[in-house]
Amino acid sequence: MDSRTMRYVAAGVIFLASGQMLVPAQADEFDQADLDRWQQEYMSVVEQGEKLFHGGLGNRNTVSCDQCHPNGANTHPETYPKFQQQIGRVVVLGEMINWCIMNPLEGAALALDDSSMVALQAYIHQERRGRELAPGKH
Ligand code: HEC
Repeated sequence: MDSRTMRYVAAGVIFLASGQMLVPAQADEFDQADLDRWQQEYMSVVEQGEKLFHGGLGNRNTVSCDQCHPNGANTHPETYPKFQQQIGRVVVLGEMINWCIMNPLEGAALALDDSSMVALQAYIHQERRGRELAPGKH
């Protein structure tokens, strides 16, 4: 090994050693109580989404999501991101939800991180859980 190679090897060893020390020791320190709480928080957002899906988005007309997608049917969240003809480009699920909010519901688009948007997505995903991911699929 020439001295240049040795310098690379030494640098690699130091890098790996310091990398080890940077890994937080407490990364997986959570218990059943934490898991239960996280699941509870998730399900409460799913329930909020279910309510919004069945009306209560505050849109001008009386149309609600469930009229065209009973129980989240035909929402295919597992196919996103995908090309949507109505929008003319590849979009994420939230953008398609906004298309429905603005068109059939005649409402105002939600920010993608709006709590109502998160809740609608949680409900839609929960209804379709277990489906295989199929991004781009029509
Ligand atoms: C008047 C009927 C109608 C209502 C009400 C409606 N949608 Fe839609 N929705 C559609 C149509 C039409 C499409 C387009 C189908 C397509 O091109 O895939 C669609 C598509 C979708 C998709 C994508 C489906 C896919 O296969 O990619 C989602 C998600 C969705 N709607 C969610 C919602 C949500 C959430 C609401 C309520 C805020 C809602 N929709 C209200 C008619 C409706």
